[in-house]
Amino acid sequence: MSRLLVTGREKLNGETYVQGAKNSTLPILAATILTKGENVIYNCPELSDVEASSRILRYLGCDVKRYHHTLLVKCDTVNRSDIPDELMRKTRSSIVFLGAVLARTGRAKLSFPGGCEIGPRPIDLHLKSLREMGVEIKEKHGYLDCRAPRGLVGAKIALSFPSVGATEDIIIAACLARGTTTITNAAREPEICDLADYLNHCGAKIYGAGEGVVVIDGVTSLNGVQHTIIPDRIVAATLMACAAVTGSKITLKGIIQSHLASVIPIFEDAGCKIRCSSGNLEITSPQKLSSMRIVRTMPYPGFPTDAQAPLLAAACVADGTSVFVENIFENRYGHISELVRMGANIKVEGKVALVDGVDSLYGATVEASDLRGAAALVVAGLCADGTTDIGGVKYLERGYESLEVTLSSLGANVKKI
Ligand code: EPZ
Repeated sequence: MSRLLVTGREKLNGETYVQGAKNSTLPILAATILTKGENVIYNCPELSDVEASSRILRYLGCDVKRYHHTLLVKCDTVNRSDIPDELMRKTRSSIVFLGAVLARTGRAKLSFPGGCEIGPRPIDLHLKSLREMGVEIKEKHGYLDCRAPRGLVGAKIALSFPSVGATEDIIIAACLARGTTTITNAAREPEICDLADYLNHCGAKIYGAGEGVVVIDGVTSLNGVQHTIIPDRIVAATLMACAAVTGSKITLKGIIQSHLASVIPIFEDAGCKIRCSSGNLEITSPQKLSSMRIVRTMPYPGFPTDAQAPLLAAACVADGTSVFVENIFENRYGHISELVRMGANIKVEGKVALVDGVDSLYGATVEASDLRGAAALVVAGLCADGTTDIGGVKYLERGYESLEVTLSSLGANVKKI
């Protein structure tokens, strides 16, 4: 099991490109199942979650080849409609294959997706919506056995919560359904827009992605296309936190400023200077961060829950008290106990975390238990006195492509052992 050794207090400098968005790549890979002909997906990050999705595609009969950050995907022959348990458990986002396999084959048999450490991750909104589209779903022994004997039918779907995954699943399922599907209270994340852009280039008719109401007119077939994945806004926010805690000035290249609209003000409140121009973001950090005041996680365009852990780590060494309210997941403070081992002063009351800034953290041996929690421990290690030994690197590799290489190239002292 790899570990990361982070020796703190090194200033960062220079510039780095931000990788393609994991949470855009995963649903788009699932959506390729609907297409005939070759898909060329550019700017695909090299991540274990992307590898897991590629394995599912190959199992279903698709041809997937990787050339560095480009994936060639051909789904002319999909000859299975089941996804075995060991493939489903690899990543939570595998549930988004449900809509795709159903739309392509009219049936799907898969186990409940791997939950993860940030909460039970129910899929009731996915199942309720697909049932409204004519899918018969039997849940037994941890498996979902789904059939759409008369094919998928367009429906009016109202989501009780703007679930990202459910919105993606419905959009994908609706593309080849008979008739029109309307989703109200749809998720509005940029990754939803990227998925819709990809599918519309393939010949789908999706209107209003990124808004609260999305309309999909079913078509009869979709063709593979070339598509470039948008940059990963959560990786960008994480790298900003790395600069902020080390009093550094760095430039992130290839970002989309509007995707960071709810993140940038938090760093500015904390005393950072942010300059964006033609796809680059320059962050100049003070020697000592000020409090981040109150950070509430919300569905997009609110502050993203995935950026809560890395920014909370930065708040540990700010001057003053910062309040975090995690409104999206029930159990997304797993990193806090480890930050406290490094000298952080944090109290958790339900979904509220009170972070009293301390002068500095100290290195310790810590264990990550989820993807963004692992990122938080790296952020904390960068500003701690001494060396932090981080276990659970496999979580980091789910969402960050060679983070230790990126940080070392910016001057940090980070080694993977
Ligand atoms: C996506 O997860 C992202 N994952 C998550 O990123 C992200 O945190 C989340 O959206 C919110 O932005 C991918 O895109 C692969 P949700 P998803 O459905 O689709 C509840 C990361 O770190 N819910 O919007 O699972 C659910 O329990 C990951 O990159 C139901 O109750 O998120 C949660 O409390 C972590 N029933 C809330 O909604 C459902 O049927 C948000 O879930 C579905 C969800």
